[in-house]
Amino acid sequence: MDDNNTYILLDAINKKPIQRTPIWIMRQAGRYLPEYRATKEEAGGFIKLIRNPELACEVTLQPLRRFQLDASILFSDILIISDLLRMELQFIEKKGPVFDAPLSSQKDLDLIGKPDGVEKLSYVFETIDLIKKELNGKVPLIGFIGSPWTVATYLIEGNSTKKFKKVLKILKEDEPFLVRLLELITELSINYLQKQVSHGVDITMIFDTWGSLLNEDEFEKFSLKYIRKIKETLTLNNIPLIYYSRGLANKFKYLENLNIDVLGVDSTVDIKFVKEKLGNKFSIQGNLDVDILRKDEKILSQEVKRILDEFGPGSGHIFNLGTGITPDIEPEKVKLLIDILRDISPKYHIE
Ligand code: CP3
Repeated sequence: MDDNNTYILLDAINKKPIQRTPIWIMRQAGRYLPEYRATKEEAGGFIKLIRNPELACEVTLQPLRRFQLDASILFSDILIISDLLRMELQFIEKKGPVFDAPLSSQKDLDLIGKPDGVEKLSYVFETIDLIKKELNGKVPLIGFIGSPWTVATYLIEGNSTKKFKKVLKILKEDEPFLVRLLELITELSINYLQKQVSHGVDITMIFDTWGSLLNEDEFEKFSLKYIRKIKETLTLNNIPLIYYSRGLANKFKYLENLNIDVLGVDSTVDIKFVKEKLGNKFSIQGNLDVDILRKDEKILSQEVKRILDEFGPGSGHIFNLGTGITPDIEPEKVKLLIDILRDISPKYHIE
């Protein structure tokens, strides 16, 4: 049994005193690493890689071999849950996820009928088993799902749109269908995340990339409500939950009613402001702009320092990017970022 008290990331989440600010990177296993690209090639593509437990475990561990990261994250995708609805998912190079038959009405859901049981995703659970064995308690493993709203946007749009025309039209014109779909995804997500927990993930996370498309009241009604439902239904036994919201801006009205442990924010918000508003409720994760990893060491140092200054002294902060790392970033820059943080963050933790 791992002794969770040894994980600095969990101490940061629980606001226990720590020696330095911990860090992990969204999409840390990804295309910016040549070894990831090679393993993906070996697997025969992204989806085949996810469905191959040995290779999915291998890419999960790759960034940890290079960098002193404080967490690992399961190599998978939030859209894999569509397997349970028997919806055909492809990932097309430079285009992203595509569903050949996206959903547009209740009729489509009726045609799908009863979803498959979560055992169908056994390849994910096998991957978790392998990763836990390999990690051997070195760093915690983060398991995750997409928020029902964010997953619904892809199931309805069928691809990575920038406009979200279809889903916003359905929101206005066919709310009953949208709500049925959100309820269905919520139920599947609970089963799926619960099973990840039973296989030993140490931290859970919900990615709500597109919650911010909605105005405040809609955000509550179509996204946050289901996050709350997920948290209330799951049996977590002290395993923390990180809720990541992109483009939050000033939509704080309903967030304080969330019973989460960590709020993950992107670089469009001021971490000082978020801490003032919600820091007594949650720990905060973020929020370096990925663009800074394209700049030189001096600017990178300044930015790290600025974020640490804004958060201020003490525990409760997990350093991360505001969004996933992109394929163009040089791996050396990630090493530099971690070195800088290890160098300057200890002085924010002297009691
Ligand atoms: O962070 C990690 O390393 C864990 C694995 C992970 C991936 N996707 C791997 C991935 C996680 C947690 C996700 C979450 C995810 N997936 C989100 C929410 C977070 C976010 O980025 O906003 C979303 C919206 C998706 C859906 C998705 N997957 C899109 C829109 C795309 C295409 C865009 C892109 O970055 O390529 C993906 C592909 C994807 N997911 C890749 C990886 C490593 C790239 C696949 C490749 O190798 O081609």
